[in-house]
Amino acid sequence: SVEEMEKRIREIKVEMGTDLFIPGHHYQKDEVIQFADATGDSLQLARLSAQQDAQYIVFCGVHFMAETADILTSDQQKVVLPDMRAGCSMADMADHKQTEEAWDMLQQLFGDTILPLTYVNSTAEIKAFVGKNGGATVTSSNAKKMIQWAFTQKQRLLFLPDQHLGRNTAAALGISINDMAVWNPINSELEYEGRLEDIKVILWKGHCSVHENFTVKNVDYLRKHDPDRKIIVHPECKREVVTRSDLSGSTKYIIDTIEKAEKGTKWAIGTEMNLVNRLIGQHPNKDIISLNPYTCPCLTMNRIDLPHLLWSLEEVVARKNTNQIIVEHQIATLSKQALERMLSLS
Ligand code: 13P
Ligand code: SF4
Repeated sequence: SVEEMEKRIREIKVEMGTDLFIPGHHYQKDEVIQFADATGDSLQLARLSAQQDAQYIVFCGVHFMAETADILTSDQQKVVLPDMRAGCSMADMADHKQTEEAWDMLQQLFGDTILPLTYVNSTAEIKAFVGKNGGATVTSSNAKKMIQWAFTQKQRLLFLPDQHLGRNTAAALGISINDMAVWNPINSELEYEGRLEDIKVILWKGHCSVHENFTVKNVDYLRKHDPDRKIIVHPECKREVVTRSDLSGSTKYIIDTIEKAEKGTKWAIGTEMNLVNRLIGQHPNKDIISLNPYTCPCLTMNRIDLPHLLWSLEEVVARKNTNQIIVEHQIATLSKQALERMLSLS
């Protein structure tokens, strides 16, 4: 039963003590998040992982987050993902071969004028590629700062793999949409409307399938029928949704904004529904809805549930190293450079 599973998890946590650390991303289910030793957005969880001494880190999040934790911890520490199917469709939209191919073509077009940046929502291999070429990782909380930094290094940047976070952030920094191009990895084409020589930002054509479900129609509907409702979205949403919203930012920013909001205020939130539902439950005196009540949850985040968490913890107790995430040494060294550039700058 649920009660038995919860009881056993509590016992294991006591038994393991400081040998065990459970980080939980804000998109995780309530049944999992209740056991997290710390919750956070991607930046907070990366920072926390780097500071951990625990021998076992059972990561309640998705694969790229567990890889990041493995890269930032020592060789003796073990990072476990409770379900190996907890990937991220956005991270899967940029593979290493495609990225090398794009890089070659872009070097031919622009020479040595480009710095690569990658959203942390990417594989360790992509982070290693970026690290090797002098670039850094970014998260939704520091993308602005990191893009500003990139322009102190080179004239142009390649932003992987989320076109929306890249476009929204670059536009917020005053870069014209005309000076942005999109690299399509499917047909290896650079899509742009302005002049080639003016291109400052090359966006990888990737996206988050969860955040693509928030549409201009959703915003327009609320503006017409519920005009007092403030709209806050994650920057993985499309540009036209972000520009029509009142506010946008990382999961931490969304949570902080709702926490600071006055009683009785009305909000529509455009992000993953586990987080939206949790905020609805935690703030009964505020009127909170999802920007699109018909969206699906992030299916891969939801792979981590109570039975998987318990199972992986039992494996840890038995010292079996099941579902351990191990990033190969050379990839880890290079991707660590990209992550550390971000951690030291933000
Ligand atoms: P943040 O928590 O950094 O805002 O990231 C959101 C996300 O999509 C994680 O996959
Ligand atoms: Fe990936 Fe989107 Fe899920 Fe985040 S919400 S883990 S970006 S698919």
